[in-house]
This record gives sequence, C-alpha cells and structure tokens, in this order.
Amino acid sequence: MNTHMHITAWALGFILFAIAYVMYKQGKMKPGKITHMILRLDYLFILYTGGSLITPYFNGSPLMPEAIVKGLAGIWMIAIMEMLLVRLPKQKPLKGLWVQFVIAIIILLALGFFRLPMGLN
Ligand code: HEM
Repeated sequence: MNTHMHITAWALGFILFAIAYVMYKQGKMKPGKITHMILRLDYLFILYTGGSLITPYFNGSPLMPEAIVKGLAGIWMIAIMEMLLVRLPKQKPLKGLWVQFVIAIIILLALGFFRLPMGLN
C-alpha cells in the first residue's frame, strides 16, 4: 500500500469536512447534507488505506505501539469530524470538540510524518 492513497484519503476528508461545515454554518442544509454523506464514504477510504498501512507493524516491529496510537488517533479524528458535523446544526457547544481536533491533528502529523518511517515515499 502506497502512502499517497492514505494522504489522498485524509486530505480529501479535510476538504469535504470544511465544505460541509461551512454549508451547515450558512444554513445551507441540503448541500451540507450531501457533502457530509460523501465525507462518510471517504471515512471508509481513510480506514481502508490506514488499515493496510498498519498491518505490517504487527510483526513484532518496535514501532508497533506508535503505529497503534497512530491508528487510534486516526479513528478518533474521524469521530471528532463526525460529531462536529452532527452537533453544528443542532447548535450544541463545539469548543471541546475543536480542542480535541487540534490535539488529534498534532498526534497524527507527529506520528505519521516524523515517527513512523514511510512518510512521502
Ligand atoms: C483523518 C484521519 C487520519 C489522518 C489525518 C491521518 C494522517 C496521517 C499522516 C499525516 C500520515 C503520514 C503520511 C503518510 O505516510 O501517509 C499517516 C500515515 C499512516 N496512518 Fe494515518 N491518518 C488518519 C487515519 C488513519 C487511520 C484510521 C489509520 C489506521 C486504522 C491510520 C494509520 C496510519 C498508518 C499505519 C500510517 C503509516 C505510517 C508509516 O508507516 O510511515 N491512519 N496518516
């Protein structure tokens, strides 16, 4: 599995998330909902590409614990995006989720690019 597929998957995810978020925020519920549904399909692409990248670490690799944390942080990130988009139209508080968003993204970038070896190859 090439990491470019994974990068494509999560970069597309962030773009779709941003579009859906702005649409909901502007009260454009229908385009928001459609973009949100496409994002939900992209979650599967993120999980599939991340899942293929993580399997080689389950061979006693010393980096296995970090790869597992990376994978869990990825699933956490998906949950955060989904909760933000579900709560925004209901006008529920989002601050705690945005704090989690920032923490998750730092963990993902740090482990994905600086700790785990594959990077942009
Ligand atoms: C929105 C969610 C996610 C984001 C933003 C994200 C971000 C990243 C980044 C920045 C990298 C490093 C660049 C690369 O090698 O592609 C990476 C690699 C990786 N990600 Fe994710 N990821 C996400 C979801 C997931 C999930 C759900 C899993 C596992 C189930 C996962 C597992 C991995 C693995 C194993 C690597 C390879 C690291 C390596 O061997 O170099 N990721 N991810």
